[in-house]
Amino acid sequence: MEKTRVANITSDLIDAVHEICIKHAVTHSEYRAAINFISHAIDSGERSLLFDAFLEANVVASDPTKISGTTSQVLGPFYLPDMPFIKDGVLARKNEPGERLRVFGKVLNTKSEPIGGVELDFWQADAQGRYSHFDGGATPEENLRGKVESNGTGDFFLETVKPAQYTIPDSGPTGLLLKEMGRHPWRPAHLHVIARHPDYSTLTTQIYFEGDEYLESDAVRAASTDLAFPLTYEGEQASVSFNLVLQACR
Ligand code: BEZ
Ligand code: FE
Repeated sequence: MEKTRVANITSDLIDAVHEICIKHAVTHSEYRAAINFISHAIDSGERSLLFDAFLEANVVASDPTKISGTTSQVLGPFYLPDMPFIKDGVLARKNEPGERLRVFGKVLNTKSEPIGGVELDFWQADAQGRYSHFDGGATPEENLRGKVESNGTGDFFLETVKPAQYTIPDSGPTGLLLKEMGRHPWRPAHLHVIARHPDYSTLTTQIYFEGDEYLESDAVRAASTDLAFPLTYEGEQASVSFNLVLQACR
């Protein structure tokens, strides 16, 4: 009988774990401790954080369904679905603390032709590195989250604040494991975006800023320098511009 994909992957996973156990002479009490650690992380509300921090970037890199266009990035644990469309691209409140940032984007296909009607679903950390809904109520519920749409020339615009570099939550089980491994918990500053259009593969990516010190040592090993764009200034006003390239559905 031909094995299913689940059976094949599970068999290989078990073989890989077997090899690691032999290599490190893993004891039975360490095996129990590992199970307890994963349960504890889940009970502490870190199910998504634990897996997204250590494993999601590997899957983004291995996924063969996305072969052209803008590089994909991890979704991470801080996405909220069903956020509303925002008016005139104004993502940040007038009194939102931080440096105002104008975002100019253009959506293209792989032939460099503009794509209109693309839904662009943005979320970001604030200027103190906090994500609304995941910050114990420190910021308003849907703060710095919202959708815009590309126009007939593929262009879209956002008025926001520059997100801060931030540490992924580092006082719980995920952070302790990271520390144990000698890794720091910092992520470079970024904007998250999901681009959706019925004729194109959905793109989940992040926009970084050139020169960010954590681009090369991202805690979640996701950041990619081809997604780092320069911050430009006109007087005090900061702007960033980039293209998003979508792959047509096959
Ligand atoms: C994030 O960028 O929001 C993120 C991604 C993976 C783990 C933790 C946070
Ligand atoms: Fe993030």
